[in-house]
Amino acid sequence: MHVAVNQNILEMEYAVRGPIPQRAAELRKEGQTTIPCNIGNPHALGQKPISYYRQVLSLVEDPSLIARERRLRTLAINTEAIAKSDLISDYVIDLAESYLAKMEAGTGAYTESQGPAFIRESVAAFIDRRDGLGGSTIVPSDPDQIFITNGASEGAKYVIDLLLADQRDGIMIPIPQYPLYSAAIKRCGAVQVNYYPDEEDGWTFDRAVLEDAYEKAEQEGVNVKGIVVINPGNPTGAVLDENTVLEVIAFAREKDLVIIADEVYQDNVYGDKFISFAGALGAEPVPLFSLHSMSKGFYGECGHRGGYLEIRNSPRVAGTDLSFTDLIFKQASVNICSNTVGQLLMYLMVNPPTEDCEPYRQFMAEKRSILETLQEKAALIRDAFDQMDGVSCFGRTGAMYLFPRLDKLPAGKTDFDYCIKLLERTGLCTVNGSGFGQKEGTQHLRIAFLPPKEVIEEVMPEWIRFHNEYVNS
Ligand SMILES: Cc1ncc(COP(=O)(O)O)c(C=O)c1O
Repeated sequence: MHVAVNQNILEMEYAVRGPIPQRAAELRKEGQTTIPCNIGNPHALGQKPISYYRQVLSLVEDPSLIARERRLRTLAINTEAIAKSDLISDYVIDLAESYLAKMEAGTGAYTESQGPAFIRESVAAFIDRRDGLGGSTIVPSDPDQIFITNGASEGAKYVIDLLLADQRDGIMIPIPQYPLYSAAIKRCGAVQVNYYPDEEDGWTFDRAVLEDAYEKAEQEGVNVKGIVVINPGNPTGAVLDENTVLEVIAFAREKDLVIIADEVYQDNVYGDKFISFAGALGAEPVPLFSLHSMSKGFYGECGHRGGYLEIRNSPRVAGTDLSFTDLIFKQASVNICSNTVGQLLMYLMVNPPTEDCEPYRQFMAEKRSILETLQEKAALIRDAFDQMDGVSCFGRTGAMYLFPRLDKLPAGKTDFDYCIKLLERTGLCTVNGSGFGQKEGTQHLRIAFLPPKEVIEEVMPEWIRFHNEYVNS
């Protein structure tokens, strides 16, 4: 049977899970080992979960363990037979109990579509703490404008689906970009309006870059309605400074655009300072949709699908007395609710153990070790680039990716050809730059710097050898 389908879905592309990882799957079936650096999926590359999250999670998912853990602790204290430090702390047990009390119906029941109120309140308090509430221009986060979502992806899609009403409607996105955005725009049959951060200047951009993209789109009859900013950037890793964030806000205000701020890598800045859009916005009346996730940072709980969407200055919906928040609520209602494990992890992300409690030291040690190791791994890969002919990697390290430019590919070869050969020769599964969009005439690849250090140390010499042979063949 042949059935006509939605053309937009047919044309949607998502290279991160495209032909290169598919080829990797074939190779694995043939018995070859591959290293999945095509996606920011830390646990798939051996990163261990943070103990604090998983301890609370296990007790909440199986409340019968709570009584058992309490008994074990009493036993340990009485007999000193079990090292107390190996046991789940009272703090975690109490937290699991209080979480369950707030959930009332447990984690197996549907929740409010927007996410339980106490979790949204906690997210709002986290945002206020992060953005240093106390300054005169900072507007507190409103729990009623927060949605707990199945990862950040769901929140982004809610906003894009709602905003794009017509085939001439467009959203500005950075090039290169995380292909969720190009795919979501394509799904609506609307227009992707590219703006181009300056690679050689560390992927920075200024007002002129935005104006240029906007004017070109306007001349082509596109009704530009929003701008996406990914900070820190995927695939570039670029971390925006305060001036750039303020520039985007001023630009959006002048052009009547909504801002979609994808801030899922806010913990992956490696010594740089993360400036949130919500904090920088202050009392400016620009609509802002900001996204965060449990999938990245040092937590990396991608499979548990926890995220939030925070709305500020929710636009009114033309011709109605409704706001965007009302209609996003409607979308969330149709999905009934986000998954409750993701909700719990989001709650834990915004409520890390405080300095005075038992799990604090272990939590901090795990956090520090993951972030430090990520930075070291990125440095190892960057060092290898220095030994590859015609490879330059601009900007500082951010997020979980490096996006080197390949300047010396043999005539007629593309970055896609290169990535396929790299995979076949070394097992390294990367993504070709064209999968994210790139300035015409340039070629790149994206590699997630997530494999264990020893794997990187082993595979880099092979990559250097492969590269220098390939470009000089
Ligand atoms: C920039 C960016 N936004 C959103 C996502 C998706 O996040 P989530 O797993 O929370 O849906 C990713 C995943 O790689 C990403 O890189």
